[in-house]
Amino acid sequence: MPSNRPLCTGIPLAARRVCVAPMLNRTDRHFRYLMRQITRTALLYTELVSAAAITRGRQTWMLKYHPIEHPVAIQFGGNTPESLAECARIAADYGFDEVNLNVGCPSPRIAFGARLMAHPDLVARCVEAMTKAVAIPVTVKHRIGIEPHCGYRELHHFVTTVAQSGCKIFIVHARKAWLNGLSPRRNRSLPPLDHTMVHRLKTDKPELTIITNGGITSLAEGSAHMECVDGVMIGRAAYQSPYLLADVDRLFGCETECPPSRHQVVVRMCEYLIRESAAGTPSARILRHMHGIFHGQPGARLWRHHLAKAMSAPENTTCCKILQEEGRHL
Ligand SMILES: Cc1cc2nc3c(=O)[nH]c(=O)nc-3n(C[C@H](O)[C@H](O)[C@H](O)COP(=O)(O)O)c2cc1C
Repeated sequence: MPSNRPLCTGIPLAARRVCVAPMLNRTDRHFRYLMRQITRTALLYTELVSAAAITRGRQTWMLKYHPIEHPVAIQFGGNTPESLAECARIAADYGFDEVNLNVGCPSPRIAFGARLMAHPDLVARCVEAMTKAVAIPVTVKHRIGIEPHCGYRELHHFVTTVAQSGCKIFIVHARKAWLNGLSPRRNRSLPPLDHTMVHRLKTDKPELTIITNGGITSLAEGSAHMECVDGVMIGRAAYQSPYLLADVDRLFGCETECPPSRHQVVVRMCEYLIRESAAGTPSARILRHMHGIFHGQPGARLWRHHLAKAMSAPENTTCCKILQEEGRHL
């Protein structure tokens, strides 16, 4: 049953300056909990959730989250206005702060995602149904285009059409999608990024909130984009090195104090692990997200070694003892 409804909805603008991207098999609730130990400001996204599965009552575990995760957005994939509207209603009842529609996934195995960019009217109808169903923001994450419909004119037309249906916030992965002949994995590094197209979109549509995404690996890089757009979304770099976002609260939120140290983050994650495993979560589901905590630090390799050792510990308390003790010395 829904239980996490926040007292008030509405995502502060500061939360959109830096967002953590939706990533299948990565940004589950345990990773999001980890990110929340590092930044209280950044807007977090769930993994892609299939609208069809949710409306059939399947995969409802994907709707579960910890209240500490707010502000948190859920991303749905689908292509029928009715089922997406129902999903939006369910998400709002669960207390999510935003519903996002995936129009960027290049997988040939799905009937939604990036291929919908060729059907702006259908996306507009989906968004209209969703916005009518809920009071929380409905946003769209899409590509700068798909081959062969890939010029700026098509991008502008897509955004104009969808904006007319009530979407005011667009997250643009600054890369075209190749729907034939390139795997979803290769579609994340090919073809090359073109952030200038996203910057131009913001110039032409100043009334919309435009977030750019793709290949951003530091907050300095993010800040440079913010000269031209409203915010940035970071995916792989945030997963590989979560502590990259440690300064988000001071730079873009209201925080004046230092962020927690990496060791403090480890301690909090161990406390979480003990609580979660008592509730039946296998510890490996949490530990797998902790590899990158010391990324780029002199002891990073040693940390991963300790993590492997901790993963094979027979007791969770022993596992946490290893991590807290060893993490202190890195
Ligand atoms: C493992 C993985 C899974 C992803 N899953 C999703 C997803 O579920 N929904 C989505 O919109 N994008 C997904 N993406 C794309 C990211 O959200 C992001 O747009 C892309 O990685 C580019 O940003 P980055 O260069 O900062 O990683 C995924 C990317 C990766 C690497």
